[in-house]
Amino acid sequence: MSEAGRVPTLLEVHDLEVSFNTEDGVVRAVDGVGLELKSDEVLAVVGESGSGKSVTALTMMGLTRGPNASISGTAHFEGTELIGASDEELRRVRGNRMSMIFQDPMSSLNPVYRVGAQIVEQIRAHRDVSATEARQRAVELLDAVGIPDPGIRVDAYPHELSGGMRQRAMIAMALSLDPSLLIADEPTTALDVTIQAQLIELLRKLNEERDLSIVLITHDIGVVAEIADRVAVMYAGRIVEQGTLDEVFYDPQHPYTWGLLGSLTRIDRPRPDRLPQIPGMPPSLLEPPVGCHFRPRCPHAFDRCQSVPDLNTRLPEAPAHFDRCFLSPEQKRERREVGDGT
Ligand SMILES: Nc1ncnc2c1ncn2[C@@H]1O[C@H](COP(=O)(O)OP(=O)(O)OP(=O)(O)O)[C@@H](O)[C@H]1O
Ligand SMILES: [Mg+2]
Repeated sequence: MSEAGRVPTLLEVHDLEVSFNTEDGVVRAVDGVGLELKSDEVLAVVGESGSGKSVTALTMMGLTRGPNASISGTAHFEGTELIGASDEELRRVRGNRMSMIFQDPMSSLNPVYRVGAQIVEQIRAHRDVSATEARQRAVELLDAVGIPDPGIRVDAYPHELSGGMRQRAMIAMALSLDPSLLIADEPTTALDVTIQAQLIELLRKLNEERDLSIVLITHDIGVVAEIADRVAVMYAGRIVEQGTLDEVFYDPQHPYTWGLLGSLTRIDRPRPDRLPQIPGMPPSLLEPPVGCHFRPRCPHAFDRCQSVPDLNTRLPEAPAHFDRCFLSPEQKRERREVGDGT
């Protein structure tokens, strides 16, 4: 998939499919997702609500397993195949080599325990260290994520911290075992813009200084531009485009990405911070459209779009820029430049 593996690949996902049996039928939440993350990279996964971003991340952590879930495909992470791993193997990887900050901030901090105690417990569950050493490490972590007076805050309860501080505490907890991969699911959504910017800056610093690779799930195009090395665009359970930040922002290939980026070719204009509205609704994942999932909303759809386009490189000059659209590169260029109202 990339240039002769000079930078080692940390995470490689192929053909990931996740569906849930519900009372209404089978929800195909993730439908053939492929992702690749190199060491030290930040990969942003972006797409509308319900496109399968969280389910993809949770599945890699082994957190969608259950009687109603069918999961197939592969996800290699540091020598472990996550999808087929036993619960025991996954527990060893999870929180340890790979950790996740969840979309709901309170879901990983227990309100009845002090923040420091939660970090200490996490460290001692995986490492043979004394309570004093673990507490010292907790204070260092709180300091590293920019919590003032960490020696005092270590004894705070989650509700005693502001939203931004809680998010930092969650990041500290996620880092407690020095993972190589952090999956951050909408880590800034509930916060005001100033705090958001500070947290993104923190993630960037952790990426640079601790060689932490990050999968960042977000709705926020501004955040993507700020921090991502590469971008994967998800639509209705599938990745429709993936490439470097510059490739996806300045030479987007999929009509859905054009819609996401707004008047994308006019790079002289400021980009909107939030995803612009694209006419029409995302399809139901109970009965997704045949062929390309974006077809019903795509002004460029033609007969061939009744079948599913592969996620493929279509540009000789950009061998790691992938998209799922049957239009030729020339057609894409022409239509994109005309501005198509998507
Ligand atoms: N446990 C489950 N059972 C049934 N359906 C589920 C389950 N978890 C997720 N889904 C469905 O899978 C689809 C993808 O959900 P997911 O949470 O991954 O979306 P998302 O891209 O993270 O959206 P958002 O941006 O709103 O967080 C949705 O239609 C959702 O309702
Ligand atoms: Mg989500």
